[in-house]
Amino acid sequence: MSELFSQGIIGQLKLENRMIRTASHEGLADRHGAPTQEQYHFYRAFVEGGIGLIITGYAGIMQNGKSSLYHMTMIDNDELISAHREMVGKIHGIAGKIVCQIAHCGRQTLSEATGEAVLLAPSSIPNRFFKEVPRELAQKEIKDIIGQFAAAAKRVRKAGYDGVQIHGAHGYLLSTFLSRRSNKRKDRWGGSAENRFRIVAETLKAVREEVGKNFPVLIKLNSFERGNDGIKPAECVDFARMVEKTGCCDAVEISAGSNEDSFYMARGSFPTEGILKYLRPYCKMGKIGKGFIRHVVAPINSYLKPPFKEGYNLETAAKVKQAISLPVIAVGGMRSKAFMESAVREGKTDFVSLARPLILEPDLANKFMKNESESAKCDNCNICFVATDTAPIRCHKDEFISS
Ligand SMILES: Cc1cc2nc3c(=O)[nH]c(=O)nc-3n(C[C@H](O)[C@H](O)[C@H](O)COP(=O)(O)O)c2cc1C
Repeated sequence: MSELFSQGIIGQLKLENRMIRTASHEGLADRHGAPTQEQYHFYRAFVEGGIGLIITGYAGIMQNGKSSLYHMTMIDNDELISAHREMVGKIHGIAGKIVCQIAHCGRQTLSEATGEAVLLAPSSIPNRFFKEVPRELAQKEIKDIIGQFAAAAKRVRKAGYDGVQIHGAHGYLLSTFLSRRSNKRKDRWGGSAENRFRIVAETLKAVREEVGKNFPVLIKLNSFERGNDGIKPAECVDFARMVEKTGCCDAVEISAGSNEDSFYMARGSFPTEGILKYLRPYCKMGKIGKGFIRHVVAPINSYLKPPFKEGYNLETAAKVKQAISLPVIAVGGMRSKAFMESAVREGKTDFVSLARPLILEPDLANKFMKNESESAKCDNCNICFVATDTAPIRCHKDEFISS
């Protein structure tokens, strides 16, 4: 029996195999942020397709940290619990396991989505992609956000999810505190690695207090950002050690990049046509603007973008695994069965998680188990990524091939 399809454990949560559907924003919530029937059907395909665990796309903990992407799921008030509970109940009814990822988007959103005059961040430094100049959070507001993470985690538990994942990666609020690139604070929330980690430590402790000791708590961390002061693998290993030291977390998922790092998170192709059709403000540009994107911006970005490499975060995940005893999940570029099997067999990671391949093939785990496939069909065109700005999640490949 392959290690990839052996049982695994995250805290008290027993999983049938080591393949996880990682958090991927669905854009399927209703206008209040409640999960919908379509969202359930979307998840159901993963359960029927043999995946060991689903981690939901990020759910917002506060309106002031709401995503600007299309129809974010929210978990910021008690009235939403029943809709989450209904969806989770159905997933459990077909023997699926589901963890809810919770997030505050910080400066990586738009004020038109949060409804606030300005975005919130550790320091008043704009995200190069979103461009709005955020306001530095006051200490009291930081405490409030920590409390709201805990309140959201409590709702996650009440809704019956199998665990909660704190989003500490990809340029959202918590990861901007961790990064020297975006955190220039001089108080106890900035400066040394311990100070930058403080918000994560306090969030994990507050969450643990609310959900109790038996409820699985996971975290997603960045292992790489561009620039001299961006997070690098060695610092990620230190942060993972700090996570373990809190005693409040059950698993660490290792990712990389943020919106302003262009495609370090995903690698693969620069999705020019997807951007021009789905991503604001580019999709609203006239012919001249679009021509400029096609003939100037796209070639430059395609040149700067890191090459796709199978399992591109695995080596850092392996370093994290050596440094801590908590289960590790490696995400990013997991494509072939042989690669995933060897990553688990060689002890580089305990679990592998996937986003893009499962959008196209939600039954990839079953195909691997039944020897019907050796590798995912996803070719990392990245249109699914940029299209979530204005449309629900799906694979858009055919649309562009046929046009
Ligand atoms: C459509 C889409 C939506 C995503 N939304 C989230 C999200 O809500 N939370 C998160 O942590 N990562 C999100 N990601 C990043 C993925 O979790 C993952 O880190 C990245 O896609 C690399 O994995 P892959 O090579 O398996 O796609 C998203 C990725 C895609 C393609």
